Amino acid sequence: MAKTKTAFFCQNCGTQSPKWQGQCSACKQWNTIVEEVVTREDKKPWHGDSSEKQKRTKPVRLAEIDGGEQFRMNLIDKELNRVLGGGLVPGSLTLLGGEPGIGKSTLLLQASLQLPFKTLYVSGEESKRQIKMRANRLRTGDDNCFVLTETKTQSIFNHIESLKPDVVVIDSIQTLHSEYIESNPGSISQIRECTAELIKFAKETQTPVLLIGHITKDGNIAGPKILEHMVDTVLQFEGDRNHVYRILRTNKNRFGSTNEIGIYEMQGSGLRQVNNPSEILISNTDPSLSGNSIAATIEGARPLMIEVQALVSSAVYGTPQRSATGYNAKRLNMILAVLEKRAGFRLAAKDVFLNITGGVSVDDTAIDLAVIAAILSSDTDIAVNRKYCFAGEIGLSGEIRAVQRVDQRIMEAEKLGYDTIYISKSNKVSAQPKNLKVEQVSKIEGLTNALFG
Ligand code: TYD
Ligand code: MG
Repeated sequence: MAKTKTAFFCQNCGTQSPKWQGQCSACKQWNTIVEEVVTREDKKPWHGDSSEKQKRTKPVRLAEIDGGEQFRMNLIDKELNRVLGGGLVPGSLTLLGGEPGIGKSTLLLQASLQLPFKTLYVSGEESKRQIKMRANRLRTGDDNCFVLTETKTQSIFNHIESLKPDVVVIDSIQTLHSEYIESNPGSISQIRECTAELIKFAKETQTPVLLIGHITKDGNIAGPKILEHMVDTVLQFEGDRNHVYRILRTNKNRFGSTNEIGIYEMQGSGLRQVNNPSEILISNTDPSLSGNSIAATIEGARPLMIEVQALVSSAVYGTPQRSATGYNAKRLNMILAVLEKRAGFRLAAKDVFLNITGGVSVDDTAIDLAVIAAILSSDTDIAVNRKYCFAGEIGLSGEIRAVQRVDQRIMEAEKLGYDTIYISKSNKVSAQPKNLKVEQVSKIEGLTNALFG
């Protein structure tokens, strides 16, 4: 039986050293030495890696490989199923990242409670009592969910061997520690080793594992980037903690597209799936108020109508303030420069505040046209008709550029009862909506003439 041995390796140049040191003696980089397992004890199936046991593989003609539909476990939660590409794939490792308090534990505990399979919820962060209290709030009582409060991987695997769950949830990967490595839980070596053990376990027993991961201040999943390379799927749970809406995104998916998003609303009794997001993201404000407009955006593969609010006022201080919530501040500055230079609006001495309502943040550049409409509406104090919506990107010379999947946006706008959609002249439209007028504009002036006369 091989005994577990570890050694220290530089993450930059790969040099091995007998003990930890602050600086690598070969490449002189600081803080790059990390402990790794070299050989391990051959105790459990997913620990053993000795070569005589490994199945020999040989090249196979692609045509001879069985390419049938991948079986997927139905997670009941429709949004989660969609984001995963149709359900949970047996033997897969899924990582769920998100800021503290955003609802990661709630999401996975809720999913575990709904599942018709035997699930094991391993928590290294909360006590059994805390988990029970949370489960009571969720009010989806179920006998198939087992809870384990443990952080040592070896004993987690022992429990798994006797319980034989169909799905394992780990909350969180940063609290686990493997006794083969001496460093603290949450360190790079520990995260890497624990993930490697979980991957072996998942692949060999075909049990899917869901991992919760913390994220750092700059929004990346804490720990080595390699963690994201190791797992099959990376999900990101995001939203503004002061708002009730949460968006679940796929950053990586080996079994499906990364274009899907799931939307939830955080309620007193857990997360509610939001099936028609467009309706909730638009507030019912007074139609005579200026500074509001509606963008027909696409998030992932779903069309979403989003409300944009702008406030333009004379600057009190010498340097005007520009601030954007849910929208890229640099892009706002660019739009203001284009409006000033290409369309002759005097905005240089004005404060401009922009807000995307509902606490969502938008990457889709098709929102530009709605941003312009909202800014100019606030500046001129003329309200934009609430039955109008916009989808167009703005270029540096003031031209309105075509956006992707315009037909899908048009159909969504018609479905939600809008009168008119403004898009770029260069967009080719094949959809023929009956109750919606499609206005195509090529320049900012075209838009301002139509909106503000
Ligand atoms: P949590 O799932 O613990 O977040 P994470 O695991 O990502 O750190 O919970 C996040 C917040 O959600 C918490 O502040 C309380 C709130 N919450 C509700 O509003 N309703 C609920 O039913 C539950 C369980 C939590
Ligand atoms: Mg948690």
